[in-house]
Amino acid sequence: MAIEGYGEALKEALMILDRDGCEMRLRMAGLGAADSEKIRKIAPFVRGHVPRIIDAFYEHVTKIPLLKEIITRRSSVERLKSTFRRYLEEILVGTFDEAYCRNRVRIGIVHHRIELSLMWYIGMFNHFRQELFAVVDEVSPASGMSADEVKGCLDRVITLDTLLAVDAYVGADTLRLRHEADRAMAAARAKSNFLNTMSHELRTPMNSILGFTEIVISKSPELAPRMRQHLETVHRNAQHLLALINDILDLAKADSGRLTVKQEEGLLQPLFDDMTRTLESLVGSKPLKIKLLYDKLPREPMRLDFGKARQIILNLVSNAAKYTDEGAVTLRANLQGPFLVVQVIDTGIGIPESELVAIFDEFHQVDSSRAGRRGGTGLGLALTNRLLILLGGSIHVESHVGRGSTFTVRIPCERT
Ligand code: HEM
Repeated sequence: MAIEGYGEALKEALMILDRDGCEMRLRMAGLGAADSEKIRKIAPFVRGHVPRIIDAFYEHVTKIPLLKEIITRRSSVERLKSTFRRYLEEILVGTFDEAYCRNRVRIGIVHHRIELSLMWYIGMFNHFRQELFAVVDEVSPASGMSADEVKGCLDRVITLDTLLAVDAYVGADTLRLRHEADRAMAAARAKSNFLNTMSHELRTPMNSILGFTEIVISKSPELAPRMRQHLETVHRNAQHLLALINDILDLAKADSGRLTVKQEEGLLQPLFDDMTRTLESLVGSKPLKIKLLYDKLPREPMRLDFGKARQIILNLVSNAAKYTDEGAVTLRANLQGPFLVVQVIDTGIGIPESELVAIFDEFHQVDSSRAGRRGGTGLGLALTNRLLILLGGSIHVESHVGRGSTFTVRIPCERT
């Protein structure tokens, strides 16, 4: 049966071999000219027993269901016996040169292609060694050679073959991984381009929906209260949709590396005062205490990406307000070395431990039965995490169901 398309994998594996050289493999196996000589001397005595070695080998192989299945799917025992005979003959010729190494790598690639795992392939060398050694024990008296010495030589050949099998598998796996990485990169680029175009296309009509509903709401005193309520719902939902589109656009930008860091000089206090006002308006009429602990922040200008810092903190603050119905939301900030450390602590619904690992994934939302109808795009934390990675910062979360969550972010920040 034809083993298709292994040329590329073989090229890859042979490149590994070329880089580190056949000489090196021979040295690693400890195989030298004296070994070749001894193998050539014992060869005529062994040859007559080769069919026995092969029969014993395949009797063992066909007893293992997984291996038997591969053989019946890919080839036949009779065919394998003849290929194995060639393989053994190559050993008995006793020439361990570049051509020998390259052919062994090629044989390894054939086994990789039939999806025989490296463990089984290498494992089978042990069986083959046992059969071969049994024959050597039997024929060495007639040859006048020491069985142990000959076995030592053959053992080094099998070590060489094992090393070359590993070369083949590493080469083929490297190629497979490279192909997969290329495919994943192309898919990510396509996704990012698609999202980018789509987001732009969606933003324009969305802005017009927002603009015109605002005009109708503010400039039409004659509107019936029910009508006004409906329009306000349209406006709120359009705003939510726009927020989602903006998050998608930012994520697409982050994916394609188009999101860049923009360091600016400015004061930290006004940033946090602004966040406090936002937090107050988000909390609205809920019975929530707002605790502010950022009065130790430096009063002099600092250098950081204010736009992204605002986006990150705003996201944490709005999550806290959204998922907390009673108790308190605390906004704490201080400077620790080269980082602005911001903590948003709430006494809200909390996040189960099983979900903590996934909360920074795109479109992940805490179990909707627990979160209730609280909205949210499911992109906020994914985007926050991306922004922090871009800035060279970090995010950490601690949470207990029913007791609340503490989000800690570290944003790089320099004194001017
Ligand atoms: C010590 C371990 C093994 C050695 C030295 C060995 C040797 C060989 C050789 C020399 C070939 C011919 C490659 C060529 O020139 O194209 C081959 C092919 C093959 N081997 Fe093995 N083999 C081993 C283990 C196994 C095992 C455990 C299986 C069972 C699943 C297996 C299945 C195959 C198959 C399906 C082919 C393809 C045969 C074809 O071209 O039709 N091999 N093997």
